[in-house]
Amino acid sequence: MADTKNATLTFGDKSLNLPILKPTLGPDVVDIRKLYADGDLFTFDPGFTSTAACESSITYIDGDKGELLYRGYPIEQLANKSSYLEVCYLLLYGDLPNAAQLEDFNNRVTRHTMVHEQLHYFFRGFRRDSHPMATMVGVVGAMSAFYHDSLDINDPWQREVAAIRLIAKLPTIAAMAYKYSLGQPFVYPKNSLDYASNFLHMCFAVPCEEYVVQPALSKAMDRIMMLHADHEQNASTSTVRLAGSSGANPFACIAAGIACLWGPAHGGANQAALEQLREIGSVDRIPEFIRQAKDKSSGIRLMGFGHRVYKNYDPRAKVMKESADEVLDLMGIHNNPTLQVAKELERIALEDEYFVAKKLYPNVDFYSGIILEAMGFPTSMFTPIFAISRAVGWIAQWKEMIADPTLKIGRPRQLYIGPAQRDYVEIKGR
Ligand code: SDX
Repeated sequence: MADTKNATLTFGDKSLNLPILKPTLGPDVVDIRKLYADGDLFTFDPGFTSTAACESSITYIDGDKGELLYRGYPIEQLANKSSYLEVCYLLLYGDLPNAAQLEDFNNRVTRHTMVHEQLHYFFRGFRRDSHPMATMVGVVGAMSAFYHDSLDINDPWQREVAAIRLIAKLPTIAAMAYKYSLGQPFVYPKNSLDYASNFLHMCFAVPCEEYVVQPALSKAMDRIMMLHADHEQNASTSTVRLAGSSGANPFACIAAGIACLWGPAHGGANQAALEQLREIGSVDRIPEFIRQAKDKSSGIRLMGFGHRVYKNYDPRAKVMKESADEVLDLMGIHNNPTLQVAKELERIALEDEYFVAKKLYPNVDFYSGIILEAMGFPTSMFTPIFAISRAVGWIAQWKEMIADPTLKIGRPRQLYIGPAQRDYVEIKGR
């Protein structure tokens, strides 16, 4: 009977037994924690393509089936039936809230949406044409300089307060970054508005006239936020975990996550995808573009396509595609050329052998920009909106890690291929 509880690693005259750990869902895991101590060996896995860096109970992705579960609940069900703040509660505390719990959580978040008035001065130091992600990294990191009563990561109550503050204040900070780039005055949050409506109001209201948020738009924004809320150990979440493992305060860790998300291979892809669709411009230019995207020497990739885990259609992209049709229709935008190019590009790519063989499908970033552009956002605000949404995922994963009694600082090793030891040579001898 094959041993399914241990893996045996045999090399030279050594043979090591490595325990097999069983997950609730997903592949079995070979526990290599004693590999170096017992076998004087490292593993080598740049990009962590086959490495589980932690245990987690928060989010599960089945890349082959294209499934995404938040605490076991399928993303499609949550996107159609839940709300972003209810999803925040679910990700943070592990279960869906009852009515009283949701109301209490909603009230706690609502009453933390304002930022310290002196944080306004930080914006003055930035150029008006700064990318809002640059501003967000700076201002969120600077929250460590203000909220001294929620910096102690060893105090569960302070961790809870920091979590609420970050979820509550990120939309305010992102909206302030947007207003600052426009040269318009900051708009304060309004406690009478729900989370998504408040964000839209802070972005698009001006002091000179009443701004009424369209319920259908705030519903679409709320759904976009749910779709982006968490995604297991992606690059920015892993950044937050690694920063948190050193004991850094929560605001510094989330600022690190925002910085990592900015990259075009990650959260920056929603901006890059829309800019690429605009550059293609019309359906007849798609074949030439597809040719370039398949030619490595072109340096061009189809942005919003492909994924490290999904080797099937990203379930979030499916919901996003449906939402794009709804929002454009609501905004009275018909025959939107960018959406037409996106749909035709998807159709052609999904029939092309290169994309089929490499299992490249649209990901969460392929359609999101079309919706956000229709709502009136510039492309520079796409990744900040991703950051607002993902903040709860980063925080839930950070809290899970900090509460783990076995927490150790993250410190990977390496495969050293540099020069062996050699002696210093005086400059006259070189
Ligand atoms: C997000 O991890 C997450 O969960 C992230 C995220 C989240 O919610 O947190 O889902 C959010 O970041 C989504 C991904 C957004 N990025 C993009 O859309 C940028 C374009 N896509 C890629 O650059 C790429 O697909 C990645 C970065 C997303 C995944 O890269 P991998 O898993 O490291 O795959 P790879 O780069 O090794 O590519 C595998 C092959 C390569 O060809 P070969 O070397 O095997 O011949 O596929 C090719 C790549 O050249 N390829 C693409 C492609 N993506 C991969 N070719 C053309 N266009 C693409 N988009």
